[in-house]
Amino acid sequence: MELYTPEALITEDEISLRIQALGNAITKDFEDEDLVVICVLKGAFVFCSDLIKKINRPISLEFISLSSYGDSTNSSGNVRLEMDITANIEGKNVLIVEDIVDTGLTIKTLMDIMAVRKPKTVKLASLLFKPVKLKHPVKIDYLGFEIEDKFVIGYGLDYAGRYRELPYIGILNAGN
Ligand code: PRP
Repeated sequence: MELYTPEALITEDEISLRIQALGNAITKDFEDEDLVVICVLKGAFVFCSDLIKKINRPISLEFISLSSYGDSTNSSGNVRLEMDITANIEGKNVLIVEDIVDTGLTIKTLMDIMAVRKPKTVKLASLLFKPVKLKHPVKIDYLGFEIEDKFVIGYGLDYAGRYRELPYIGILNAGN
């Protein structure tokens, strides 16, 4: 099987610089506060692991798993909660970490789930935002990059379960 090297959209160095800036902003905004970071599996795990290293605040880390795409390149329109966090977030500052906001359905669903648990604050960090696909208005407090309407892979993002291990954001070409 031939090794396929996807074309880069955002390089490792660009990602790294942007994450440092996001980490600085989060550190400043949460001065004298603790944070519960919620990593949205699976796609956000790479971004989240790099981001928390740049946040100079006391953090507790939680994981949640929501899925809408299955093995397709289009959202199914249904979001399943596959795995919940274990912590009580009532009265806490919550930072949700996503890899991409596309239609906005996943994050809208997640925000609704979180709101009934009465956190003190809820903020969103997303590495990528694809505005052309947005159907559900979302406020991204800490955004890495706005991108055009290409199917992106790598740095945690997959196509049919593949390419999450790429160290950069690449573009999936038809036929690969
Ligand atoms: C992807 C991505 C976001 C969501 C964004 O998750 O990680 O959570 O889709 O799309 P939306 O804004 O249209 O809802 P996916 O369902 O592919 O699961 P995964 O993270 O486990 O790959």
